[in-house]
Amino acid sequence: MAERVRTHKLSPSIFTISMKGGKERLATLNLSPGISVYGEELISSRGKEYRVWDPFRSKLAAVVLKGIKSFPISAGSNILYLGSASGTTASHVSDIVGESGFVYCVDFAARSMRDFLSNVYQHRENVSPILADARNPENYSHLVGSIDGIYCDVAQPEQAKLLLDNATFFLSLGGWTLLAIKARSIDVARDPSAIFEEELHILRKNGFEIGDSIRLDPFDKAHAMVLSYYEGESSRLQ
Ligand SMILES: C[S@@+](CC[C@H](N)C(=O)[O-])C[C@H]1O[C@@H](n2cnc3c(N)ncnc32)[C@H](O)[C@@H]1O
Repeated sequence: MAERVRTHKLSPSIFTISMKGGKERLATLNLSPGISVYGEELISSRGKEYRVWDPFRSKLAAVVLKGIKSFPISAGSNILYLGSASGTTASHVSDIVGESGFVYCVDFAARSMRDFLSNVYQHRENVSPILADARNPENYSHLVGSIDGIYCDVAQPEQAKLLLDNATFFLSLGGWTLLAIKARSIDVARDPSAIFEEELHILRKNGFEIGDSIRLDPFDKAHAMVLSYYEGESSRLQ
């Protein structure tokens, strides 16, 4: 039972719900009331329905709780989501951008895409499924409209390059990117901190200005999220 719903300081589209007993839960306003996407709890308060957003299931929720400096996704944003899987986080992004925004969801795993279709796409008009390899943006460029930012969570060794290839294709200068880095996808043996530094260097070298970089422990071990802004070739480090 919800006791009080407050807007989160990072965004008017994210909520903190105080539960009876004192627990606080992060949540988004449910764009498809009555539908739970991945078993998350639905909470009603004052005629509105919220979906609890679990930081152990969603890295984006984890960065909100860990205090990212600024949250670039807002109502009306158009977003390219790389690595949408079955739609756990993408569904919350769909709630946040709302009816006036749109989320283009790319994943190359057919099985996850099937779950995405039945759990997310079937109930929401602001998402589109794109079954494709995110390493080849030219293969899906005709399916993606104008975007404000790219959320990238593909757990690939060459994820910074993959992000750059998509940014060059789709993003205007100054557009934002959020990149989830899984150190173990890059090298299982090395110190995660050294790997994160290298990825930041690759981003800077390729024209991204770093806005924030956050470790996701304790929600996700050896993961980090990097917020950056694409400034293009002219700002590349030599
Ligand atoms: C960690 S999961 C994503 C979880 C999801 N972002 C969430 O929070 O709900 C990584 C996803 O990236 C996808 N993926 C990995 N490499 C890819 C590629 N080259 N192109 C498209 N999808 C890819 C995988 O199929 C998997 O579904």
